[in-house]
Amino acid sequence: MIDIHIHIIPGVDDGSRSLEMSLAMARMAYETGVDHMIVTPHSYPGLYENYAGERLEAKYHGLKEALRAQGIPLRLYRGMEIYGTEDTVSLLKRKKLWTLNHTKYILIEFGFHEEPDFVNEILADCYDAGYRPIVAHPARYSFVQADPQLVYDWYQKGYGIQLNKGSILGSNGKRCQDCALSLLRHGLVHCVASDAHRMGWREPNMDTITQELEKNFGEEYTYMLLEENPGRILDGRVLVGYDPIPYISDEDYE
Ligand SMILES: [Fe+2]
Repeated sequence: MIDIHIHIIPGVDDGSRSLEMSLAMARMAYETGVDHMIVTPHSYPGLYENYAGERLEAKYHGLKEALRAQGIPLRLYRGMEIYGTEDTVSLLKRKKLWTLNHTKYILIEFGFHEEPDFVNEILADCYDAGYRPIVAHPARYSFVQADPQLVYDWYQKGYGIQLNKGSILGSNGKRCQDCALSLLRHGLVHCVASDAHRMGWREPNMDTITQELEKNFGEEYTYMLLEENPGRILDGRVLVGYDPIPYISDEDYE
């Protein structure tokens, strides 16, 4: 299995706080079926100032080296969780941000209460500049919970949609869970990732989510979400999915 969203580099954001914790996270991920992982530290101007460069490169290689020394056969790849702002495209063009494993795919998040028009604008700017946005955890955004048709529009525009396992399992509350399950039922999700931050809570265990997805959505859909599309992102190939079902608003019945 390939986890494309995890905060496992120690000491760079609100994820792992130590190398010891990162190794525990890596062991747990590996023992629950993950053998490839795109590490995605936050790059969030003003909060987590992580940009491509020597400092982050050294942290990334430090973790890779530690995995090797501990005999944990988990392969790491570079990535970031980019906080979308007016500067995102410029930072990408200047190679200040890590795309997902050097592909055109970028993992991008927004404020939970952002204006949808602003989100649409930033996503379109990235796409028009040749990048392929993967929208991180849309079910967590209040503007998506209020209007999930936004995700249908993103899907149709060719953006990738990534849900967090915790959103599906209910760790972020019922509104978020209801939204996540609804997006899955509407065929609007390309992949599911851990978005793990530490041990104990928001951890990288993928057992429960695998079982839950298989039980509710079947093996084929689960495989697409956890293996097929994450593998395509890793290799920079086009994503696959089902025919999405739009959200019909009340007005459409009038
Ligand atoms: Fe994240």
